[in-house]
Amino acid sequence: MDKLRLDSKTLTLLFLLLLFLWLQCLESNNNNEIVGEEAAYLINLRNNISPAPSTWFTVTNMCEWSHVTCSFVLFNNNTRHVEEINLASKSLKGKLPPGLNNSLVNLRRLDVSYNSLTGPIPSFVGLSSLQELFIEHNFTSIPDFSFQGLTSLQKLILDNNTNLSPWTFPANLTASTGLITLSLYATNLIGSLPDTCHFFPNLQYLYLDTNNLTGVLPKSFEKLLNLKYLFLNDQSLSGRIEVLSSMTQLQVAWLERNFFEGPIPDLSNCTMLRYLMLGDNQLTGEVPPSLVNLPKLWQVSLANNWLQGPMPLFNTSVNETKLEGNGYCLDHPGPCHHTVATLLQLAQAFGYPLLLARSWRGNDPCKGWSFIRCDVQGKIRAVNLTKLNLNGTISPAFANLIDLQELYPGGNNLRESIPENLTTLSQLKILDVSNNNLSGIVPRFSPNMMINTTNNAFLVTRSPPPTLLPSPTKRTHHLWIKLGTL
Ligand SMILES: *[C@@H]1O[C@H](CO)[C@@H](O)[C@H](O)[C@H]1NC(C)=O
Ligand SMILES: *[C@@H]1O[C@H](CO)[C@@H](O)[C@H](O)[C@H]1NC(C)=O
Ligand SMILES: *[C@@H]1O[C@H](CO)[C@@H](O)[C@H](O)[C@H]1NC(C)=O
Ligand SMILES: *[C@@H]1O[C@H](CO)[C@@H](O)[C@H](O)[C@H]1NC(C)=O
Ligand SMILES: *[C@@H]1O[C@H](CO)[C@@H](O)[C@H](O)[C@H]1NC(C)=O
Ligand SMILES: *[C@@H]1O[C@H](CO)[C@@H](O)[C@H](O)[C@H]1NC(C)=O
Ligand SMILES: *[C@@H]1O[C@H](CO)[C@@H](O)[C@H](O)[C@H]1NC(C)=O
Ligand SMILES: *[C@@H]1O[C@H](CO)[C@@H](O)[C@H](O)[C@H]1NC(C)=O
Ligand SMILES: *[C@@H]1O[C@H](CO)[C@@H](O)[C@H](O)[C@H]1NC(C)=O
Ligand SMILES: *[C@@H]1O[C@H](CO)[C@@H](O)[C@H](O)[C@H]1NC(C)=O
Ligand SMILES: *[C@@H]1O[C@H](CO)[C@@H](O)[C@H](O)[C@H]1NC(C)=O
Ligand SMILES: *[C@@H]1O[C@H](CO)[C@@H](O)[C@H](O)[C@H]1NC(C)=O
Repeated sequence: MDKLRLDSKTLTLLFLLLLFLWLQCLESNNNNEIVGEEAAYLINLRNNISPAPSTWFTVTNMCEWSHVTCSFVLFNNNTRHVEEINLASKSLKGKLPPGLNNSLVNLRRLDVSYNSLTGPIPSFVGLSSLQELFIEHNFTSIPDFSFQGLTSLQKLILDNNTNLSPWTFPANLTASTGLITLSLYATNLIGSLPDTCHFFPNLQYLYLDTNNLTGVLPKSFEKLLNLKYLFLNDQSLSGRIEVLSSMTQLQVAWLERNFFEGPIPDLSNCTMLRYLMLGDNQLTGEVPPSLVNLPKLWQVSLANNWLQGPMPLFNTSVNETKLEGNGYCLDHPGPCHHTVATLLQLAQAFGYPLLLARSWRGNDPCKGWSFIRCDVQGKIRAVNLTKLNLNGTISPAFANLIDLQELYPGGNNLRESIPENLTTLSQLKILDVSNNNLSGIVPRFSPNMMINTTNNAFLVTRSPPPTLLPSPTKRTHHLWIKLGTL
């Protein structure tokens, strides 16, 4: 053990040795140069952009060029590598020459934003050290697979390349699983979003707005659990937005001016939400009551949709609300008439289809609501929903329409059972549920009612009367069964 103990003399020697090595190292760094294809690319770049920084002409060691950062080398190996080029806001004209990915293989950061560069964006394929890429403004094309194999990428910003020939969402980005910011604002994106969001669990900022995207939000959107900013506004996206409800870190959701439909989801777990901008879509149904109590909510736009039910009354801490252009039952907050509330429960069980929302607005179902027939006294007597392509279920809330005489939900795609409490409708004379996907057992209705259950493969009638059966083998194809004869 004693032999290992270092005395002060040895320590001093060791220190001097380290100092010498360090000075050597600094010395060698100063002398080391960018060589080979990397140097060739930088020269090529200098020749293609204008005005290139002046040191690019006056200084020979490229590592001392302004806006270029090189790797640090420990031992004299005669080579250094370009790690960063930052030419943001330099009023540059010209092009980025091709061949970048075959030469600047150690590149970590490239920023050429806010210039007037044009032409194709070069390929970055295989640049596994690349972390940040800023290529904003006025390029004209992106080669296929440009973003393949960028395993270290954290930020990709391509904003405002409005002259790009139309391209689709870069499918090859899936190797960039550490992506934090993806901004493709105004880049002429077309087509639909691929179902690959589960590759981006760290994504926090997603800007895809002002493009021409179509189609629905893919299921994997719900895997974006760290998303804080979501911008999808101003394009042709459609379908439902329930994926938002799982994004508990969401602060900004900007979805205005698309064709989103269905109800606003329950966002009660999105407690960080500050901006909820859903205006100018085709959203339907009631505004979820929990929405008005979100603690950080600051601005909300629900304007110009097909929202129904009570107008929401937001907390006074909310700075701005735009609610106009919807179908609330009243023009001020407050509960709806009970028949309206009931009919909206029915609509809810069908998933609040747009078809109903376009007409089921206001506070009086007898004033022009489609598919509803009232008598002169304003009692709802018939609901005819035949062949509307409805999905979902028959709500037990139908039982609250106590004056109902005829109910036709036939020819749709309805599932599950016929609610037991429809039997309490004492005036019901006709129930036509034919041609659906209903299952379960047909409840025991009053003897005077006509029920048509034809063509519901899994619907079972309790001990069908043998006399009414067309043939003993065709048990599932019921005709009008007068239950009084049971
Ligand atoms: C010198 O650098 C090159 C390129 O990075 C590398 O491939 C090579 O192994 C290095 N040589 C030494 C002796 O460090
Ligand atoms: C981009 O191009 C548009 C026209 O295509 C032009 O109006 C705009 O000034 C350009 N932007 C820059 C930063 O060069
Ligand atoms: C550079 O990109 C081209 C085409 O995109 C590709 O064939 C090549 O393998 C890439 N180079 C590297 C070093 O990955
Ligand atoms: C995009 O360009 C427009 C007009 O040139 C400008 O107002 C806007 O700030 C730019 N946005 C981004 C994100 O660069
Ligand atoms: C890149 O995209 C193409 C076309 O979508 C696909 O064939 C290829 O497998 C993708 N490569 C990677 C690494 O994702
Ligand atoms: C979408 O495409 C249409 C034509 O297909 C075009 O007029 C419009 O400017 C595009 N919108 C955006 C935001 O690029
Ligand atoms: C909110 O989070 C809790 C706990 O994770 C979960 O049980 C519940 O279903 C969530 N609610 C919504 C509306 O997503
Ligand atoms: C919203 O906030 C802005 C600035 O913070 C303020 O000027 C404005 O008066 C506020 N509006 C309302 C309705 O509180
Ligand atoms: C119900 O609506 C369907 C489709 O609009 C129509 O053909 C049928 O005659 C209606 N039935 C009654 C009883 O009004
Ligand atoms: C029912 O679902 C189908 C398939 O998802 C869909 O095409 C249809 O529009 C839905 N019907 C309504 C009324 O929303
Ligand atoms: C029918 O059932 C639903 C739920 O099961 C209930 O809310 C409703 O009050 C019932 N209506 C009648 C009239 O029994
Ligand atoms: C029952 O419904 C089916 C399908 O809509 C129809 O063909 C049949 O005529 C109906 N039965 C009676 C007795 O009206």
